[in-house]
Amino acid sequence: MPQTDLGGLSNSADVNDLRSLCIDLAVSAASKAAEGRAQRAQLETETKSSLTDLVTEFDRAAENFIRERLSSQRPQDGIVGEEGLDVPNTSGLTWIIDPIDGTTNFVFGLPAWGCSVAVTQGNTILAGAVHLPVLRETYSAASGRGASINGTELISSQSTSLQTALVATGFAYNSQRRSQQGALVAKLLPQVRDIRRSGSAAYDLCCVAAGRVDAYYEHGLSIWDIAAGVLIAREAGATVEFTPESAVTDITLVASATPIFKSLRSVVIEE
Ligand code: IPD
Ligand code: CA
Repeated sequence: MPQTDLGGLSNSADVNDLRSLCIDLAVSAASKAAEGRAQRAQLETETKSSLTDLVTEFDRAAENFIRERLSSQRPQDGIVGEEGLDVPNTSGLTWIIDPIDGTTNFVFGLPAWGCSVAVTQGNTILAGAVHLPVLRETYSAASGRGASINGTELISSQSTSLQTALVATGFAYNSQRRSQQGALVAKLLPQVRDIRRSGSAAYDLCCVAAGRVDAYYEHGLSIWDIAAGVLIAREAGATVEFTPESAVTDITLVASATPIFKSLRSVVIEE
């Protein structure tokens, strides 16, 4: 995916304005979900692709809130969201929404969950934001304009050794895929400093951007899990590759400090 190919954007919007709208939408939607969550000791949940893949009324309400804002403010743009149907664009721009990334954490009362909003033009991610209300952190980026956390510039790790790298990963909801992921993490663990599993892919990518981990990889992701985080990590200086580039689901992603990218990729991607 090209990182700074902004051809044709001048007719649509400035990337800084798009970044501001990503922030506004992610902060507003996640804050509403956090307020709703705080009023409930226990949440009612439904399951999606498997018994462990949860959705709550707050995921749906947060996504509906963003969809309504976009359809009134930017009616010609398309929408791809985790909890709803795709809306085609007539402007060339498409918004990618994960209303609550880290739904399991949200349900169990763990802090690593947030709302992820990005806007794309073809395969180019123009702007994105991830807001984690419990952690009070807002990450954002615009293509070619850098990445920030709560307004402060982000710079990713420059680690040069896989052996001492702290590596985040995540696991899919499908149990067969999980046993493959377990085997892979068992192979990687003796070759790195340690492994972290936050429970939110969007947050994992923000942690790569912030240098809180040196790397993150995962198989079986969806575009809404990663769109904003990919841009935030890249704009902070990390190397990020995901395939297939134009897929919506079943995406494999590797993100890391540039000097260790090739070594990590050779372990976690079997070709
Ligand atoms: C999940 C989280 C998790 C990752 C899964 C995702 P959800 O998204 O990002 O960290 O390991 O692959 O599906 O279900 O919390 O929106
Ligand atoms: Ca997600």
